Amino acid sequence: MPTRLTIARNLRSLRTAVAAFRKKRETVALVPTMGALHRGHLTLVKEAQRRADRVVVSIFVNPAQFAPHEDFGSYPRTFDTDVAALTEAKADLVWAPTAQVMYPDGFALKIEPAGAAKAGLEDKFRPHFFGGVATVVAKLFLQVTPDVALFGQKDYQQLRVVTQMASDLDLPLKVVGIPTVRERDGLALSSRNAYLSAEERSRAPMLARVLNACAGRINRREPVEMVLEEGVTELTQAGFAVDYLEARHALTLAPVASLKDGPIRLLVAAKLGKTRLIDNLAV
Ligand code: PAF
Repeated sequence: MPTRLTIARNLRSLRTAVAAFRKKRETVALVPTMGALHRGHLTLVKEAQRRADRVVVSIFVNPAQFAPHEDFGSYPRTFDTDVAALTEAKADLVWAPTAQVMYPDGFALKIEPAGAAKAGLEDKFRPHFFGGVATVVAKLFLQVTPDVALFGQKDYQQLRVVTQMASDLDLPLKVVGIPTVRERDGLALSSRNAYLSAEERSRAPMLARVLNACAGRINRREPVEMVLEEGVTELTQAGFAVDYLEARHALTLAPVASLKDGPIRLLVAAKLGKTRLIDNLAV
């Protein structure tokens, strides 16, 4: 019988639980999530357990990172199933604040990250996104005070933004990116995959296949610009509406023209029907 997982819903109970860990000189890892947990999140929990004595998982669908026309209202909320999965995974604490706890009346702060947050990738299509993410993640870091925080590399630009934000604010924790977990056919796991129809789901792995093919060609010294143009054409012909397919410097996310400007990360975002998918790959 697994031990009962503690769920903190307000700052007082969160701080009491974290203080109890600290009193025993235990280290703490944070896995920030918006719930709708899948195998990718549970991999983060497992990796967190390797890096710290205690694992806190936050579940908060952050209104500040959704634009009014986006899917905040319909974002999958599966709290009971999430808690069951985290109990099974032997996480130690769930931090599940309400919006009122996170953003009480009169809340007036917004962190506006620059650098990687203005790389012209996700920010170009979701201009509100990284301000919302940086603000909530800074709050989560200050609330939970972890030694280490783990993020999936699937949201690669987010990982770069959060890493820079923690460094710029001198926050005493390590931000770690964990490789993307994929379905057998290559599709990157995402809570939004649930939006795909059966027919779209069968076409979705094409995104990862094109990334792989582009990475292979760039490694064989084919011209980056041509490879990416052909990648976009292939995706478009397969019915994707491509927002971007770009080769960027893996750390700064600055544009790169050739292999020698690397290390290169390929990043893609495209819509399949109404579902927007993102993915990325190291070259
Ligand atoms: O990647 C996510 O699930 C969210 O953007 C995060 C980091 C939990 C912030 O709300």
